[in-house]
Amino acid sequence: MAPNFLEIIIPTFKLAARLSAAQRPNTSPPHEHPTRPVVHLNNKVAIVTGAGCHGSQDDLGNGSATAILLAEAGAAVLCVDRDLSFAERTAALINRNNNISSPGQTSLAVAVEADVTNPVDCKKITDHALSRFGRLDILINVVGVMGARGTAPDLDLDGWDAGLRVNVTSMMLMARYAVPAMLRNERTAERPVRGSIVNVGSVAGLRGGTPHLLYPTSKGAVVNMTRAMAVHHGRDGVRVNCVCPGMLYTPMMYRNGMSDEMREKRRQRSLLQTEGNVWDFAHAVRFLASDEARWITGAILPVDAGATAATSLSS
Ligand SMILES: NC(=O)c1ccc[n+]([C@@H]2O[C@H](COP(=O)([O-])OP(=O)(O)OC[C@H]3O[C@@H](n4cnc5c(N)ncnc54)[C@H](O)[C@@H]3O)[C@@H](O)[C@H]2O)c1
Repeated sequence: MAPNFLEIIIPTFKLAARLSAAQRPNTSPPHEHPTRPVVHLNNKVAIVTGAGCHGSQDDLGNGSATAILLAEAGAAVLCVDRDLSFAERTAALINRNNNISSPGQTSLAVAVEADVTNPVDCKKITDHALSRFGRLDILINVVGVMGARGTAPDLDLDGWDAGLRVNVTSMMLMARYAVPAMLRNERTAERPVRGSIVNVGSVAGLRGGTPHLLYPTSKGAVVNMTRAMAVHHGRDGVRVNCVCPGMLYTPMMYRNGMSDEMREKRRQRSLLQTEGNVWDFAHAVRFLASDEARWITGAILPVDAGATAATSLSS
């Protein structure tokens, strides 16, 4: 049967409309290509608490390794520790490694003696960053202790309070002074982030299973404090994230003695069957602190060779 008038005319109109649309100039705005974040930390100023390390001259803790990596990427770093000699050791190592010579160079480290459980000291640290370097971009809250031993029926109450003060309250106190300092930083469409905070938790704060109550409780608080802070300060351009290390082999863990058998057991608890060290930790922290992570806030990043990804390692 021959096609009727409508069957001929409708496809003809559709074709004509398609052709004229193709010829029309594209009036939608051109796509903007995003600026690629820089990987260095030049001109940034960072505070690392707990930047020293108990142990021998060559030992590095999580804080000292982090300070070294931040400085290596170009940041000026305030190495904060309750023990000035520990902080000085890290600062000296950084300055020697970076061969700091020119006065304009920002990539240098200074040692600051401070107890981060004390609000006066926390303010002093931030003031020092502002007076010495004129700005503050990064805060890494590393200080943390195993704290009071025992379970609810038998732990010492003063030890419990003291442990919470070191592991949780200190991070809040540092943020109390650091956030207003970060808010002084310029904010543009291209660079919407004014500051970055990384809190150090632990896989013990994500799971039960540790023998003493204080440590997992306090680290669990750090995890959710991070999310809460991320919400409070996100609109102002301050990112807040948390790194949760697993069973790293660090001076904190081996300084009181660790048998080879225990060390091997810890290694086997991870999916990768590999022992972690301070550099595994510090690289994760540096990433979260840097502009490479400019779209990440409120994140909890386990650095544990997959230990918390599985409920058991049966094979
Ligand atoms: N080492 C691990 O396997 C492991 C695992 C999970 C989480 N973590 C966490 O990593 C962080 C650091 O661990 P680490 O092994 O480097 O510890 P560390 O004990 O070797 O170093 C901590 C540093 O903090 C300093 N410090 C302690 N209290 C302070 C205070 N009130 N004010 C200022 N400085 C203080 C100490 O003098 C020391 O130099 C802690 O938060 C810890 O809970 C470690």
